[in-house]
Amino acid sequence: MAEESKDYKQEDWQRHYETNDMGWDLGQVAPPFVKLWEDKKLPPGKVLIPGCGRGHEVVFLASNGFEVTAVDFSEGAVTHLNKSLKERNLSGRILQQDFFRLDDSHNSYYDLIIEQTFFCAISPWQRKGYVLNSVRLLKPGGMLAGLFYHTEKQGGPPYNTTREDIKTHFSGKFIIHELYKTPLSAEQRKNKEWLAILQKK
Ligand SMILES: C[S@@+](CC[C@H](N)C(=O)[O-])C[C@H]1O[C@@H](n2cnc3c(N)ncnc32)[C@H](O)[C@@H]1O
Repeated sequence: MAEESKDYKQEDWQRHYETNDMGWDLGQVAPPFVKLWEDKKLPPGKVLIPGCGRGHEVVFLASNGFEVTAVDFSEGAVTHLNKSLKERNLSGRILQQDFFRLDDSHNSYYDLIIEQTFFCAISPWQRKGYVLNSVRLLKPGGMLAGLFYHTEKQGGPPYNTTREDIKTHFSGKFIIHELYKTPLSAEQRKNKEWLAILQKK
């Protein structure tokens, strides 16, 4: 488990944006989310996207009628995303903030949380907080649809996420409706992503 002192900090993430070093960025909305949307498996309404990065999911969902709130504590991410939305004449609430410090006005506000390469970006000791925070922010019965990165490597970020990790962390607070390796991953993530559809108990 990572020591808190060795955690990847806000300035470490920001540096990636400043040096254009974003190996995680697919350059498009992750295809499994498009399929979930086509299959009407994403509840319409208020969606939260934590650690949104340059926000391809944000743009996709905003253009398909969702009321999007996106959170990222890196200025580079937020600046890029605001520009993308403006260019497309889309609206969304983009917060440059720490996901773990969203204030109480967000409590029970969201129908849906979209997880994309954020759970693997935080330190493993923060995973419990991620789950508790998600529970706090979702409405009763709210959904979390996520792609969880199975790097099968030591260390991080990105930190490896196994099927067991997902079950261990989420099963106490969420019903696990679906959990499988999606065949629809983008090329660079083939066989490396767990698709999970979870519902707040
Ligand atoms: C690996 S990137 C993924 C970005 C995006 N989800 C994607 O897949 O393209 C992780 C992002 O999470 C952000 N981040 C990390 N810890 C955060 C925190 N505690 N609160 C808000 N954002 C955070 C970083 O700034 C970075 O943009």
